[in-house]
Amino acid sequence: MNSQAADLSLDVAAVGPTGRPLREFDAPAPLDSHGPARVVAMVNQKGGVGKTTSTINLGAALADYGRKVLLVDFDPQGALSVGLGVNPHDLDTTIYNLLMNSRLDPNEVIENSNVPGLDVLPANIDLSAAEVQLVGEVAREQVLDRVLRKVEDNYDVVLIDCQPSLGLLTVNALTASHGVIIPLECEFFALRGVALLVETIEKVQDRLNPRLNIDGILATMYDSRTLHSKEVVARVVEAFGDRVFDTVINRTVKFPDASVAAESILSYAPSHTGAEAYRSLARELIARGGAP
Ligand SMILES: Nc1ncnc2c1ncn2[C@@H]1O[C@H](COP(=O)(O)OP(=O)(O)OP(=O)(O)O)[C@@H](O)[C@H]1O
Ligand SMILES: [Mg+2]
Repeated sequence: MNSQAADLSLDVAAVGPTGRPLREFDAPAPLDSHGPARVVAMVNQKGGVGKTTSTINLGAALADYGRKVLLVDFDPQGALSVGLGVNPHDLDTTIYNLLMNSRLDPNEVIENSNVPGLDVLPANIDLSAAEVQLVGEVAREQVLDRVLRKVEDNYDVVLIDCQPSLGLLTVNALTASHGVIIPLECEFFALRGVALLVETIEKVQDRLNPRLNIDGILATMYDSRTLHSKEVVARVVEAFGDRVFDTVINRTVKFPDASVAAESILSYAPSHTGAEAYRSLARELIARGGAP
């Protein structure tokens, strides 16, 4: 191999799935004090794109780096709660009660998860009634914000797992947040609906929450063996440029397996590439200023 060919192969090896040079993000410095939290909503009205999986595993990775993390289950399906070993159907109070009763203390509802440093505000099917019940409230878009403000000093990061809809609950999540992460599944229709999502985010920025920032687009369920996955990521990068995280999450059965075990992938398969991907996402989010 002549030296030019050797250089070329080096270059090829250094390009990541986004087509950009692969960057390494350093492990973040430990924090000496905690809070107030930066709040980040995980949003996509398309179902099954990896919102809940990303909330659990990014949360677990941030906790692993010594951050105090609260995960808010904001989906009546309760998949986030179940995925962390909290059975929301046995609980007397959930996020629903906090939305409906401003005198209820969130600390009485928050549950410790099976991950140290990671707490959960659980949800169950009760939350499905909130969408309708909140419509008549004063400042109906700010109800979750008022709940989270009571606990923001106890955490470094709050991640909100939204349901697949752009209804009032998701608008509440956007209104309560500093940032949004949009997970996109690497498949043909990944970008369908994203324009409407961005429009909703802009409306919330304009009318309710000017600090709201799109922290990043996260490509999930990437299959490096298919040209198709690469093409989808290329199109997403074309549309969103630098806002696409360098970190891309591979498709692997380890994620559903970890959910069945009600664990994060970081504890279920700590040395698997899927666990390293979410650790990398945590480092990248911190490096980009999306988390302390
Ligand atoms: N990277 C991945 N590789 C393989 N399977 C995955 C991956 N990420 C998530 N999954 C699986 O895909 C399914 C949908 O994921 P998840 O529940 O995280 O999506 P969601 O966006 O929260 O869905 P919903 O909109 O219904 O709330 C789950 O069974 C999950 O285990
Ligand atoms: Mg979900």
